[in-house]
Amino acid sequence: MPLRCLITAGPTREFFDPVRFISNPSSGKMGYALAVAALEAGCVVDLVSGPVALSAPAGAILHPVVTGAEMLAQVEALFSGCDILIKTAAVCDFRPKHYSSGKVKKEAVPLSVEFEPVPDILKIMAARKRTGQTVVGFAAETDDIENYARRKLVEKKLDLIVANRVGRDGGLNAFGADVNRVILLGRDGGRRELGPAGKLEIARGLVAAILEWHAARA
Ligand code: C5P
Repeated sequence: MPLRCLITAGPTREFFDPVRFISNPSSGKMGYALAVAALEAGCVVDLVSGPVALSAPAGAILHPVVTGAEMLAQVEALFSGCDILIKTAAVCDFRPKHYSSGKVKKEAVPLSVEFEPVPDILKIMAARKRTGQTVVGFAAETDDIENYARRKLVEKKLDLIVANRVGRDGGLNAFGADVNRVILLGRDGGRRELGPAGKLEIARGLVAAILEWHAARA
């Protein structure tokens, strides 16, 4: 039976009125490239995607979502049936505490907005992991990427984590770029660098390494 791979991609949006939201510049390119690579490797692919300007790879089962709550509900519905979860999505970590169902008038916009945390989908799923499942997270950081990634690997109880650099201050920026460079870390201490290379090439390398891990340990 083919392995079932659940991949999340793109940003999420958190609204404070029907026409205004906070989000991040994730393009979805890395997650969509992973979907292509997993399909090439013979997996069945469920792609839970935030709003992006990409079309779903042929053969992937697309589940479009907008908010973190929608992504959580969709991932919860699909998780028990998947063998491998790859959480590439740049989930918007905070959401406005108050939502106005009518458009807030310009003159009435508050000078500060209160935020509350969005549930950590990856951490919730990793805690529900059963034998035979592999959970892979991503860590987008502006600095000290490997240390932060290693901390997340432990804190969120992941099998593997992919560390990549983001930010606007020069250097390689994973958000929106076509090229990426990543470090794959395993909970067993494994470490592999991939790239700089196109996102599809990186994705193929990651999928091969994830499948290898899954076959050996899940
Ligand atoms: O803690 P941080 O947001 O940096 O962790 C990134 C990883 O956690 C990514 O794999 C992302 O998809 C996941 N995540 C999540 N739910 C959140 C925040 C992050 O699943 N609310």
